[in-house]
Amino acid sequence: MKKVTIGLIGYGVVGSGVVKLLNKRKNYIKGKYDTEVRIKTLCDRSVDKKDTALLATAVKTTDFNDILNDPEINVVVELIGGMNPAKKIVEEALKKGKHVITANKELIANKGQELFQLAQANRVHLYYESSVGAGIPIIKTLTEGILGNTFEGIFGIINGTCNFILSEMTEKNYTFNQALEDAQKNGYAESDPTLDINGMDSAHKLAILVNLAFGKFIAVKDIYVEGITHIAQDDIEHAKSLGHTIKLLAIAKKNNNAIEARVHPTLISKSHPLASINHIYNAFVIDANPLGNVILSGEGAGQMAAATGVVSDIINLSLNLETHLLPCNIYTEDKNISLNKIDDIQTKFYLRFTAMDKPGVLSKITGILGEHGIGINSLTQKEHSQVKTVPVIILTELTSEKSLRMALTEIHKLPVIKNKTVAIRMEKLS
Ligand code: HSE
Repeated sequence: MKKVTIGLIGYGVVGSGVVKLLNKRKNYIKGKYDTEVRIKTLCDRSVDKKDTALLATAVKTTDFNDILNDPEINVVVELIGGMNPAKKIVEEALKKGKHVITANKELIANKGQELFQLAQANRVHLYYESSVGAGIPIIKTLTEGILGNTFEGIFGIINGTCNFILSEMTEKNYTFNQALEDAQKNGYAESDPTLDINGMDSAHKLAILVNLAFGKFIAVKDIYVEGITHIAQDDIEHAKSLGHTIKLLAIAKKNNNAIEARVHPTLISKSHPLASINHIYNAFVIDANPLGNVILSGEGAGQMAAATGVVSDIINLSLNLETHLLPCNIYTEDKNISLNKIDDIQTKFYLRFTAMDKPGVLSKITGILGEHGIGINSLTQKEHSQVKTVPVIILTELTSEKSLRMALTEIHKLPVIKNKTVAIRMEKLS
């Protein structure tokens, strides 16, 4: 029988979920995988205040060194998140020859390259399935599932909180704040949901996916990121009437040796499969060559979803304990690949101007767009009012971020334009 002796660090939502799932599947794991999983030590800074009934025989500590210095512990499961002290813990564990399992996307996105090398040098495994998409096996799919193919793109809905908010705004006509409150009430959003709604959570996950798909380590700060806080109920309604829906997408594409990586709200056609991925569901579309598109979808947030990724890693690790083929060996970097800047990337845009309803206004707006080489696909002004402003919706042809920015700066100087113009990218997804 294979033995996995774990030091678990972090007993929050995910950590306690892992313990529940391991407890529930104890005999199943023994029978099916010939593996005995034991959590020898639990470390949490407020371990005394936690319900640890399922870990009655485990050592409880607030000092992670009790785990790092215990030679019997062969696997460290790090579930505290953030950079500090998680980085130190993972580094120390790897140096001491312990395998590591983490759900820490920030750590892997920022320090993955160093940590993979460290794991390789110490001939131990570093697993992180739950860092992206929780229990959806996106990491395993990219590293082991589609071998022999190259990847031309990977995109999708990779933040459950934002998808929940946008779904509620679409289905229940909630404002952004109402939908966020609902997400928090249902336990989907963190009490501080900043990293979710500002797009950074998706950016961390995208950095990891770019590395796995294209063999290039990119800095999170080099990813173009827009969150969803500026999306208004009006935009949701206009998108609907245009046959579209708004999703926060993470998009990475590779063209020859140049890649693009961006996170932003996006208008997509209602007929695209991603349009029907709602609430806390995530979905990843992998464009593999020669296989074609592969779509993975499932709950990307929540206790059992995250625990599934970690428990899956524990079992996979037990099956590979004696192997010398370390998954980290495949994380070599292709130095010839560069990352495009957002100014070099062309997309179509949905624009919502808030304008006075006066003769000549539309021609002024379209004239400035035309001067910047921005073609127009459609223009809609449904409301009329002699006294107040009205929304003018323009869908553009493909244009660069830079041209659009320059055109909007000029348009905003027009006295008939009130409020900041809303610009949301449109993506024709294959
Ligand atoms: N906060 C994340 C989300 C969950 O909302 O998707 C885990 O990554």
